[in-house]
Amino acid sequence: MTEHEPNTLILRDVTEADLPIFFEQQLDTEAIQMAAFPSRDREAFMAHWKKIMGNENVTVRTILFEEHVAGNIVSWDQSGQREVGYWIGKKYWGKGIGTKALAEFLGYVKPRPLYAHVAKHNVASLRVLQKCGFVISGEDKFSNESGGEIEEFLLKLE
Ligand SMILES: CC(C)(COP(=O)(O)OP(=O)(O)OC[C@H]1O[C@@H](n2cnc3c(N)ncnc32)[C@H](O)[C@@H]1OP(=O)(O)O)[C@@H](O)C(=O)NCCC(=O)NCCS
Repeated sequence: MTEHEPNTLILRDVTEADLPIFFEQQLDTEAIQMAAFPSRDREAFMAHWKKIMGNENVTVRTILFEEHVAGNIVSWDQSGQREVGYWIGKKYWGKGIGTKALAEFLGYVKPRPLYAHVAKHNVASLRVLQKCGFVISGEDKFSNESGGEIEEFLLKLE
């Protein structure tokens, strides 16, 4: 008998022990390129997580896959809109974890509409959102840290 069922995915509260794992996951250069989001250094990362874990307007969960910390998923208010975002560690990509985690998270986060901003080149994240019912409702662009222009889609779940 195995210790756990294969492919089990659970969303649970974030613990302090998860933070060093999230920190390492957000340092991955391929992930940073996909998300078009810069990594934080350890001090800035821990300060950011301390802030969001203490904010009652933020809903955040650790994604456990086969009992391992595979990533995190979060929802927050931004300029009056309820946003969702997620980050999965690279070794867990391509197993359906992003899609399953978002589908389950949508059961916790009740406000609608719900929005997500996604770089146009982030095909995997677009697929995750679209498979969970989000539709492209607009586009935008922003300048990244190195002055490059990133085009993004705005996705909406009614
Ligand atoms: C985007 C991300 C969450 C996807 O997670 P995942 O668990 O690998 O996603 P899934 O396995 O559920 O796959 C979702 C879809 O994307 C596709 N996909 C996965 N990786 C892909 C890639 N690198 N390129 C193209 N498509 C990809 C899958 O085939 C699947 O599509 P399908 O159902 O049509 O076959 C993950 O890569 C990640 O965290 N990246 C870094 C951070 C990030 O981009 N966050 C989102 C910011 S908006």
